[in-house]
Amino acid sequence: MTDSVAANRFDVPRAIVSGKGSRLKLGSLANEIGATRALIVTDPGVVALGVVAEIEGILVDAGLAVAVFQDVQPDPTDANVADGVAALAAHQADFVVAVGGGSPIDTAKVIAVRPANAQPLAKYMGLHKIERPGIPLIAIPTTAGTGSEATKVAVITDTERDVKMMMLSAPLLPQVAIVDYELSISMPKGLTAAVGVDTLTHGMEAYVSRKNNKMTDPIALSCIDLVSKYLKRAWTDPNDLEARDGMMLAACQGGMAFSNSSVCLVHGMSRPIGAVFHIPHGLSNAILLPAVTAFSWNHAPDRYATIARTLGCANAEADAESACLSLIDYLHDLNTTLELPRLSQCRGFTREVFDDCVEKMATDAIASGSPANNPRDPTAAEIVTLYNEAW
Ligand SMILES: NC(=O)c1ccc[n+]([C@@H]2O[C@H](COP(=O)([O-])OP(=O)(O)OC[C@H]3O[C@@H](n4cnc5c(N)ncnc54)[C@H](O)[C@@H]3O)[C@@H](O)[C@H]2O)c1
Ligand SMILES: [Fe+2]
Repeated sequence: MTDSVAANRFDVPRAIVSGKGSRLKLGSLANEIGATRALIVTDPGVVALGVVAEIEGILVDAGLAVAVFQDVQPDPTDANVADGVAALAAHQADFVVAVGGGSPIDTAKVIAVRPANAQPLAKYMGLHKIERPGIPLIAIPTTAGTGSEATKVAVITDTERDVKMMMLSAPLLPQVAIVDYELSISMPKGLTAAVGVDTLTHGMEAYVSRKNNKMTDPIALSCIDLVSKYLKRAWTDPNDLEARDGMMLAACQGGMAFSNSSVCLVHGMSRPIGAVFHIPHGLSNAILLPAVTAFSWNHAPDRYATIARTLGCANAEADAESACLSLIDYLHDLNTTLELPRLSQCRGFTREVFDDCVEKMATDAIASGSPANNPRDPTAAEIVTLYNEAW
């Protein structure tokens, strides 16, 4: 009987509130949840932008008692989570608001579920390991971006093992996402580029993944379409509001798509780079995307060709192979246009350290499970070759 069941589960926040100024709805949304004591989780860079003071004011005006935990670092760690849980307890918060990029949002997700799921954090790495719901969370992204506001995923570094742990569990999903592009306008060019290619990678990997499905396919393609229209525009002119709006929506859609399909080899290889070399997540994805696409395309040529046509780098008449080859050129050109460096050009990278770490990075990539979703399932030796190609 159960052999005939093919159930694709699709989880998204119960509300996604988007558009110019939508952050001003936070107070009424918090009241809808019945929240009385809020902990804002953020980082010092976002505080410096003045965004946190505004969000705090909105919550206070809605009658909530507010505390701020701002000690999240990029590539957040188990220690950040532990400090945030202590801040949650000290404030006796019944509600968490995440404000920032993927780092504060991921940290806030884990802080919110931690009181009800108190095993050592490493036990929750992987799929569906967090069982009990946490306290309600509203996520407000300021990068466009990870799409974390709409995913059941959090990525937290285990500082003892130097491993970026990917956790995917429904209780991590924010109740509400507020997607207000005005918060992304302050992003400098380098950040716009890196997080924008992260978004593209989410759309592409969700679409080519072995876990792709009919619910995620149209959302993944819409994400890719929005990136093709708006990423270069947002990078060229930070004040292009239509482009900022388009990229914010693309990021959210990319999150919805990969969270219910999966990421694949690019993300699997990207996390070990982040854990060892601490370069931004979107940048390590961008560096790997052309090489991994060249490695993978002929195991799902029709899917990669559809991506090429959606990006506008191949026309409807082009056969799958030439469309896929155009896609690889497009991805190289995109990195050049957005002035994204190669691995060897990143600050702090030396060939010696790279050679010392590359075997461990390949092992950690496979252990994360993401490469197994790739259309072409790589061996550790092939992953080492791909890291070298990205060098
Ligand atoms: N949970 C998910 O679904 C998911 C998906 C992809 C990536 N991630 C994770 O997200 C993290 C990366 O997040 P990110 O790329 O959004 O960056 P981030 O959150 O690490 O932020 C990077 C820097 O940008 C600054 N910043 C944020 N918003 C800004 C703005 N509007 N203007 C100027 N500066 C701003 C921050 O202060 C910070 O210094 C990684 O740890 C990655 O693994 C999570
Ligand atoms: Fe990502």
